[in-house]
Amino acid sequence: MTEPTDRAELLDDPSMRVLAAKDANELRAAYDDWSATYNDAVAEVKWDTDGVPRVAELTAKLVDKDGRILDAPCGTGLVGLALARHGFGRIEGVDLSPKMLERADETGVYQSTRILNFEDPLPIDSDIYDAVTSAAMYMPGHCPADPSLREFARVTRPGGHVIFTHTVYDEVPHPGLNELSAELEREGMWRLVSNDLIQEIPLYEEGESGEQVEHMWACHLLAYQRLG
Ligand SMILES: C[S@@+](CC[C@H](N)C(=O)[O-])C[C@H]1O[C@@H](n2cnc3c(N)ncnc32)[C@H](O)[C@@H]1O
Repeated sequence: MTEPTDRAELLDDPSMRVLAAKDANELRAAYDDWSATYNDAVAEVKWDTDGVPRVAELTAKLVDKDGRILDAPCGTGLVGLALARHGFGRIEGVDLSPKMLERADETGVYQSTRILNFEDPLPIDSDIYDAVTSAAMYMPGHCPADPSLREFARVTRPGGHVIFTHTVYDEVPHPGLNELSAELEREGMWRLVSNDLIQEIPLYEEGESGEQVEHMWACHLLAYQRLG
């Protein structure tokens, strides 16, 4: 476990919009609008320097450099860039937001990118990736755990890894995520190989009467190895 950061950040409007999205359409629109300034905004909470490198380091520890990786969601490509720095070259990016994908394309590190909504079954064959990386998605207002997590496990080959972050916001886990992870373990689909708290950040927003309301953002990084 890492030390909590000592920074308190005021949530700005675009990030509140994505956290408060009611469905995938609202979320897509919010990310499309946010795409131009996303990288600068997440740098404010050191996601690019404290979070993303941890995802890439764990992937480099578990996966061969010639492995085929699905970065899901790739967003603007921060994880892809970090993986490329570790020597990975076979990275494919998928995401709900066309504008985030445009930025990922600009990085030049993805072999391909395409729009997908993980609320639906993935139009991807089973057992083909050496790893799926899913960073900064399981958090408030974002994709349901089911079927996305089961689908990430399905498209990963036996022996490969699903590496994802799980944000516990105000001590509330992402709905259904822990339960589904345990169910997949019971089914013999995967086994847990790594689980670390990588960021813990107090965030403040203005309450209805102008008071400051504190939220706690705790980001865990997990890796499961696909069995079978
Ligand atoms: C906070 S960003 C993280 C992007 C990148 N992994 C990173 O670490 O910077 C969350 C991403 O999840 C994508 N997303 C959210 N829900 C999704 C869904 N149902 N299907 C596909 N992508 C989704 C958003 O479009 C957005 O690009």
